[in-house]
Amino acid sequence: MKRIGMLTSGGDCQALNAAMRGVVKCLTCSGEPVEIYGFLEGYKGLIYGNFRMLTGADFSGILTKGGTILGSSRTPFKLMREPDENGLDKVEAMKQNYYKLRLDCLVILGGNGTHKTANMLREEGLNVVTLPKTIDNDLWGTDMTFGFQSAVNIATDCIDCIHTTAASHGRVFIVEVMGHKVGFLTLNAGMAGGADIILIPEIPYDIKKVVDAINKRSERGSKFTILAVAEGAISKEDAALSKKEYKKKMADYKYPSVSYEIAEKIQKKTGLDVRVTVPGHTQRGGSPCPYDRVFASRLGAQAGRMILNGEYGFMVGYKNREIVKVPLEDVAGKLKMVEPESDIIQEAKLLGISFGD
Ligand code: F6P
Repeated sequence: MKRIGMLTSGGDCQALNAAMRGVVKCLTCSGEPVEIYGFLEGYKGLIYGNFRMLTGADFSGILTKGGTILGSSRTPFKLMREPDENGLDKVEAMKQNYYKLRLDCLVILGGNGTHKTANMLREEGLNVVTLPKTIDNDLWGTDMTFGFQSAVNIATDCIDCIHTTAASHGRVFIVEVMGHKVGFLTLNAGMAGGADIILIPEIPYDIKKVVDAINKRSERGSKFTILAVAEGAISKEDAALSKKEYKKKMADYKYPSVSYEIAEKIQKKTGLDVRVTVPGHTQRGGSPCPYDRVFASRLGAQAGRMILNGEYGFMVGYKNREIVKVPLEDVAGKLKMVEPESDIIQEAKLLGISFGD
């Protein structure tokens, strides 16, 4: 008999359900009796003992379903060691619930913050297996996270739709893409959608270079320009500020997001009509794309296999086209970013894409 606790934490994304289904299918197909405790709304469920007992039937028909059947929430790692408003020790509470239910392990699906807490629980002596979820693809130790490809599809669709209007009206269009502090999503959606300029946090931009790229297109007779701008894009000047100076700038920031600041500057310097489109959380929504369904199912199956073998303390990752076990202590607290010198950036530049650098 295996007693498994499962939770999804942090921002949701596509294929969370597919991954959980993969774990459960593997366990149930093995013939080993299994009890599944689904903790609701992420770590909150584990802290407050809020769970539902689930059976194989709960995981049936969810391969294609977006979101998470368990619900999710953000429980910042930095607050985990602080008592809650009633003085409850959250880490102790999570351990108590784990032991009270006599769990063999926890299966935790999440991104960067989630992995810090998962690793802390491992250090506290709990058996933990994790699965890499995030549309940002910024988890260290895995080449790919599930959710990412689905989000690339949505952001690309958005750029595709903008293309026609940009062409009809001869405008400059900025599509602001999610990704938090990294540019994988913007880079991939930007290239897939044929963006002319791609701005990502890893390559601080110079607004003059951005304007030059737009002007060059105008001189060549192109009536419109599409920019894919990461929500975390940063100018060279801002990147040179100290943390304190940057914080001060952001405290007085008058724009809803970075794209609006860039739009205003482009408009002033070129006189062109500039519009901003922000697909926002649509990028995390809807049904997972086929790649993510397969990928999340594979990761889930391997997590199930690890549980059957009693192998704990790992994230199931993907490296060089193979599913791998990555020690949690190696994942926690590290960010994977786009390498400015990587092949894909060089190839994008060969295609004439400007990064504003
Ligand atoms: O990490 C996923 C993500 O969608 C980021 O791309 C984005 O910055 C953030 O979450 C948005 O968070 P929230 O859903 O809390 O607004």
